[in-house]
Amino acid sequence: MLDELLSRNRDWSARRIADEPGYFARLATRQCPEFFWIGCSDSRVPANVVAGLDPGEVFVHRNVANVVHSTDMNLLSALEFAVDALAIREIIVCGHYGCGGIKAATEDLPHGLADHWLEPIRRLARGYAVDLARCDDIEARRDKLAELNVVEGVRRVAETPILQRAWARGADISLHGLIYGLRDGLLRDLDCTVSRGHSEPDAAQ
Ligand code: CO
Repeated sequence: MLDELLSRNRDWSARRIADEPGYFARLATRQCPEFFWIGCSDSRVPANVVAGLDPGEVFVHRNVANVVHSTDMNLLSALEFAVDALAIREIIVCGHYGCGGIKAATEDLPHGLADHWLEPIRRLARGYAVDLARCDDIEARRDKLAELNVVEGVRRVAETPILQRAWARGADISLHGLIYGLRDGLLRDLDCTVSRGHSEPDAAQ
């Protein structure tokens, strides 16, 4: 398995160099990505691939169900670096339909540590219980909850001192909420963009 992976890597590297001889030399000197992506760890939603971006074009943080915990040092460290060192202007929180983390958060089963990790999603489901109950079936409810989790994530990123400080010093950074469809490979804009001067998402629901 690992030999196969290393072999694929050598082929990929050779193809890249054939396409652009200075490719790796250019990337090795510095990275200047335009996007910071906060997404789900799900193997079917790789940021670069679904957004059609090359190495060097997107700075990425992923976790189970793309949860934005206000105390997650991993996410906050990546966010701070993206904003302060890379001067990124577009931050994307991207969820996806058919998310296993969302499903786990809606089940009455023990999932170990994941139950702690997914607690904000359970809280969100309780808060939007009336809206979620209007969905036709359990899958539609989970997909709606995946959307709500993205909108909540955008709001939480906007509330971090990292973003508040950046906006206060005039940085032009926008936060966007997207959701990806596993069935059609398409990203959808959830219209919850937050920019400087707006402390709340436009269309939080
Ligand atoms: Co997922």
